[in-house]
Amino acid sequence: MVSAVQAPVTANAFRDPELYYSDHGVEIYVADSRKKLSEFPPNHFQTCVSSPPYWGLRDYDYENQIGAEEQVEDYISDLVALFRNVRDKLREDGTFWLNIGDAYTSGGRTWRAPDKKNAGRAMSYRPDTPKGLKPKDLIGLPWRIAFALQADGWFLRSDIIWNKPNCQPESVKDRPTRAHEYVFLFSKSLRYFYDPEPIQEDSIIGHAPKNRRSVWNINTEGFKGAHFAVFPPKLVELCILAGAPKGATVLDPFFGTGTVGVVSRALMRKCVGIEMKPEYAEMAVQRIEESIPKAYSLPLS
Ligand SMILES: C[S@@+](CC[C@H](N)C(=O)[O-])C[C@H]1O[C@@H](n2cnc3c(N)ncnc32)[C@H](O)[C@@H]1O
Repeated sequence: MVSAVQAPVTANAFRDPELYYSDHGVEIYVADSRKKLSEFPPNHFQTCVSSPPYWGLRDYDYENQIGAEEQVEDYISDLVALFRNVRDKLREDGTFWLNIGDAYTSGGRTWRAPDKKNAGRAMSYRPDTPKGLKPKDLIGLPWRIAFALQADGWFLRSDIIWNKPNCQPESVKDRPTRAHEYVFLFSKSLRYFYDPEPIQEDSIIGHAPKNRRSVWNINTEGFKGAHFAVFPPKLVELCILAGAPKGATVLDPFFGTGTVGVVSRALMRKCVGIEMKPEYAEMAVQRIEESIPKAYSLPLS
């Protein structure tokens, strides 16, 4: 049963009806980020860390959902439009960390089975093989999206390989098992806030720590009840430590179970999460409430 949490700001008579939770410096809106983002003032967010629904993978069970487009080009242009709204609300020195994985064309299958680990709603169809591709082709989605965002005005600053040492085994015998996804770092401007120090890597003994490399080895972590891949907190931690100073505001317009909120709060950053489904927003609230002792509460303004 979903229970709306009474936010401390409810004393404010002008409380936004879509504001589901506001405490510990974290605001959660149950809303469609395609619409909600336009309501924030410019220069509001320092960085955005997000993982959108993947194309043709999971049915979140609402109209006109991102990821259910029949053509891959429409999926990409929907994401570009949404992230343009994100850019409009970022500070001029702001950044955007986009996590996205790749996919294969359907090879003739017409539906997608629920995945064994997360028995969520699977898509009831598989999109047609995109024009120019063949059955079994790797689509190259991350790079298609990265180039489209670059063409839309973002500065593409780094591709990061998120290597998953504990990746799911695959039964394939004609290619290597996929063990990675991408994180792309974009900036709004030529010069931007990026703090390399807190994410430096250990060096060999006796040498100073070295600049973080572009391959991150981080295990995936399951989360009971979520019907999609949840961010590992360590991945989000690296993005936030480099992308936002203490007290700055982090955005996740695809908030899901709220990993970005949990990590932002633990690192003393503020966070705005937008999530379409109230049941996921409620999971996020539970995680945030459980992870942070009240004593650490940080006022939002
Ligand atoms: C891949 S999951 C994100 C998981 C998240 N990173 C976590 O750690 O839990 C994508 C989420 O985006 C939400 N979503 C999809 N389209 C949305 C939209 N237009 N506005 C807001 N949320 C949306 C889905 O309901 C889902 O919870």
